[in-house]
Amino acid sequence: MTGTHNQPEVNIGLVGHVDHGKTTLVQALSGEWTDQHSEEMKRGISIRLGYADATFRQCPDVDAPECYTVDETCPDGSDSEPIRTVSFVDAPGHETLMATMLSGASLMDGAVLVVSATETVPQAQTEEHLMALDIIGIENIVIAQNKIDLVDRDRVERNYEQIQEFVEGTVAEDAPVVPISAQQEVNIDLLMQAIEEEIPTPERNPDDDPQMYVARSFDINRPGTTWDKLTGGVLGGSLVQGNLTEGDELELRPGREIDEGGQTHWEPIQTDVRSLQAGGEMVDEVTPGGLLGVGTGLDPSYTKGDALAGQVAGTPGTLPPTWEKFTMKIDLLDRLVGLDDEEIDEISTGEPLMLTVGTATTVGSVTSARDGECEVALKRPVCAPEGAKIAINRRIGARWRLIGIGTLTT
Ligand code: GTP
Repeated sequence: MTGTHNQPEVNIGLVGHVDHGKTTLVQALSGEWTDQHSEEMKRGISIRLGYADATFRQCPDVDAPECYTVDETCPDGSDSEPIRTVSFVDAPGHETLMATMLSGASLMDGAVLVVSATETVPQAQTEEHLMALDIIGIENIVIAQNKIDLVDRDRVERNYEQIQEFVEGTVAEDAPVVPISAQQEVNIDLLMQAIEEEIPTPERNPDDDPQMYVARSFDINRPGTTWDKLTGGVLGGSLVQGNLTEGDELELRPGREIDEGGQTHWEPIQTDVRSLQAGGEMVDEVTPGGLLGVGTGLDPSYTKGDALAGQVAGTPGTLPPTWEKFTMKIDLLDRLVGLDDEEIDEISTGEPLMLTVGTATTVGSVTSARDGECEVALKRPVCAPEGAKIAINRRIGARWRLIGIGTLTT
């Protein structure tokens, strides 16, 4: 049962303002929305981070862009040939979910920014999401100018110009803008062509030590589960490097908190890979790209209710260090996104910050703040390499707002 042919090889983020058509576009490209994953996965990851796989196909002897399709049969009745399977990470459009968007961004190899032609540019989350792509360093971007069926040609053109002006000087400056209608399936082939050209599958080294970002964790031992062979805890997430094979030893960091005589410390957890699910099927080996389910030998009480979300899994002894406190270099944004006149105050000693590192989100208390740098003590430790990017959020009013980006230094 090694069928890895359906396994996605690249993760593409779907970002953009609420209601601009991300979900509709993914449906047009994949036919199904997260249905390829087990019930458990569907209930799990898609709540916080939607995933859907789409196999891009090509009709032989047809010129671009008409050759691009997601259908198995071409208009002339011949069979289309698979090009590659891509996994779409659907970032939630609501502004309060920015942290999820950022943690999702750590799993994105490229992004499609969906902008509705029916509204002026930019809308709040169009701007916020583009800034996040900038911060995380996602450069392979395609802009889908959606809902062109709802406005006349003049407005489409004016909106197109607004998009061009808006992205000037940003990471998306050179991104192609493809006018589409996700709902009427207009120009989907053109969009696929742009994605093929702009968002290549990253080169991976199969000899790298495997490293998985854990986004969810489950206890699947309950009535109705189809994973009847599995009794151990299940991890959901994405492999960012290396390959994982059934039987591999696995370490999770930071692991779990141990209380010894009133003193607590964190200890890595050891287990092994009992089963693997990717691209909607059980497989023996997985490579980076898309969403994975990893059945482990862990006591399910460890994995229940996302207890291990935000952890990193990989070969024992090869994972990045665990930090209970760290120093980070800080780049504050010029102003609060969406609130043009709100300047951002310097970070001060004693203030709480919400930090997103990889798929981990933790609260940190600033123990010392200097010019362009601060030291934070974390409520929950994180596993991350030096140089890791950190999204920094400050509580302003009723919610956490993105105020800058940190780089982990020591
Ligand atoms: P959130 O997940 O809430 O951020 O929204 P979204 O960006 O995923 O938007 P969604 O796909 O749910 O689309 C919002 C609405 O716009 C729905 O009612 C869609 O049917 C409609 N819509 C999306 N794309 C198009 C399009 O190309 N043309 C038209 N006419 N309607 C569209």
